[in-house]
Amino acid sequence: MIEIEDILQNEVPKINFNNVSFSWPGNIAKLISNCSFSINKQGLWMIVGKNGSGKSTLLKLIAGLLKPSKGVINNQANVGMVFQNPDHQILMPNCRSELLLNINQKSGRKDVTNKINIALKKVGLTGFDKRPIHTLSGGQKQRLTIASSLISDKNFILMDEPTALLDSSSQIEVLEIIKDLTKNKRNPFTVLWITHRLEELTYADAVAEMKNGNLSDWQKPLNFKYN
Ligand SMILES: Nc1ncnc2c1ncn2[C@@H]1O[C@H](COP(=O)(O)OP(=O)(O)O)[C@@H](O)[C@H]1O
Ligand SMILES: [Mg+2]
Repeated sequence: MIEIEDILQNEVPKINFNNVSFSWPGNIAKLISNCSFSINKQGLWMIVGKNGSGKSTLLKLIAGLLKPSKGVINNQANVGMVFQNPDHQILMPNCRSELLLNINQKSGRKDVTNKINIALKKVGLTGFDKRPIHTLSGGQKQRLTIASSLISDKNFILMDEPTALLDSSSQIEVLEIIKDLTKNKRNPFTVLWITHRLEELTYADAVAEMKNGNLSDWQKPLNFKYN
């Protein structure tokens, strides 16, 4: 008999790295070296690390954009990405058309408007469907890229320094929306967030540092010490 806990467990996105190594072509040194970790619980997971420590490369390995030279990556999540600069990611002239581009193709016509409204509401952009992209603030654009992940049924977003270009009030807006989404038990949703802003770590459920080609153990933010 299947226990209820087992069913819930299966809804949780799982990422597992087992002794993964990676070096960029033409570079003998391993940027990622025998790296092992997992993410097997819903929540907001954050990674910090110095410039060039391999954080963005790690995200590309998780997303399957790069293949490890050694080791095994097991990814059972439906992964979406949000980059530092939303202008590099948004392709269409207004919010509705951007979401239409990202919507799960199986949706029926009637469903579409409903889904767009729900996605916009979840990121605090209710009523923005007709808004041209150039009228949005940086924070609103970043929330639209999150809505694009939601509308394409992703359950795990990789966010690469998503607040680096935002002012502090937009930064807090984006953090709080992500925090809410990752707490929702009915719709399990997980975020792996890369940051160089240490004040953001207090929002995390777990924090780790990328250093010397490896990811440290996950820590509670209160226990985390950045070296
Ligand atoms: N496309 C690429 N080709 C070759 N080397 C790269 C490429 N992207 C990143 N690197 C190298 O990998 C190292 C780590 O980069 P990155 O993963 O972007 O670090 P971080 O995100 O932590 O700043 C850097 O030394 C960088 O030069
Ligand atoms: Mg980077």
